[in-house]
Amino acid sequence: HPKALLRTIEEDGDFLLKLADQHIVSADQFNVETMRQLFRLAAKIESNPKRFSTPLKGKILISAFYEPSTRTRLSFESAWHRLGGDIMSITDRSTTGIAKGECLADVAEMFNNYGDCVVLRDTNAGSLFEMMDALRIPIINAGNGIDEHPTQALADMYAIFKWKPELLAEDNDVKVKIGIVGVPGKMRTVRSFLKCLAIFPQAVEELVIIHDETVTDELFADGQREELEAVGIKLSTETVMDDVLPSLDVVYINAISWEGDSFNTYGKEFHLTAKSPLKESAIILHPLARGEELSVDLDPTSHNWYFSQARGAVFLRMALLTCMVERAERVIDVV
Ligand code: CP
Repeated sequence: HPKALLRTIEEDGDFLLKLADQHIVSADQFNVETMRQLFRLAAKIESNPKRFSTPLKGKILISAFYEPSTRTRLSFESAWHRLGGDIMSITDRSTTGIAKGECLADVAEMFNNYGDCVVLRDTNAGSLFEMMDALRIPIINAGNGIDEHPTQALADMYAIFKWKPELLAEDNDVKVKIGIVGVPGKMRTVRSFLKCLAIFPQAVEELVIIHDETVTDELFADGQREELEAVGIKLSTETVMDDVLPSLDVVYINAISWEGDSFNTYGKEFHLTAKSPLKESAIILHPLARGEELSVDLDPTSHNWYFSQARGAVFLRMALLTCMVERAERVIDVV
């Protein structure tokens, strides 16, 4: 329950004020304090969402998704609606001037006139940066190619801290062993998640990347391995999932990687099921959509934190949006 998280954080909104009018491009824009405050605000909202039903009244979100999405688009739109705002949604680039060759800078200039915030998903990692150059309203990266998906990673961390609130405390001396099934260099959700873990190294006992033997490329995106090692996170790799599962506290599994205009799946031989040798207390996270790698027979078990992860994303996004678009102190006053 989010209330468990409330008890671990100091009452201080200063860091949230810095999010006003910021573009959200990468998970590494956040620091420990901003994350602590954001998770605390998300937990407050989750505890009583109806108290936060008006902060974005009169504000318009432009929800531009040029690549399929269930959770990210709908949870952003749900978050904006719950905060009292209005939405204009694009779910297909062929219905916009882009189909007639309009450049992204011109589209961004129109967005400046029509809305107060943009959420963009695009298979082309560079589109975000092209639009940013022309935007005077904030934009949020909702997944750009194989690059990043920062708000997914914030939702992942929010789920972990709700599961074990002591990990977020300044004097935390608890550590967890985390296994990631996937290829960080090719998966934007994993890449952003690792950036968040690098911000909380004191919570990580060890990080194990579980990948199939056919992955011959460098496992990590440029500089990410060095970034993790620099903050003291112990890293290892494993190709036999069941050998390492019994020692893991958190199993983060993902198979999908967007490459160009379509997606690939990795690790087809990895299947988590209710029979997998998981620690009794272990939790499973998955950004979803799932494939065969995550069996539905895990859904009714205590390992299933992936549905909580998806649900919490609404409240995490409510917290983020309200700090970016409305003044955070007005929301904090409500608390
Ligand atoms: N987690 C996530 O990005 O899901 P969608 O692709 O459904 O948005």
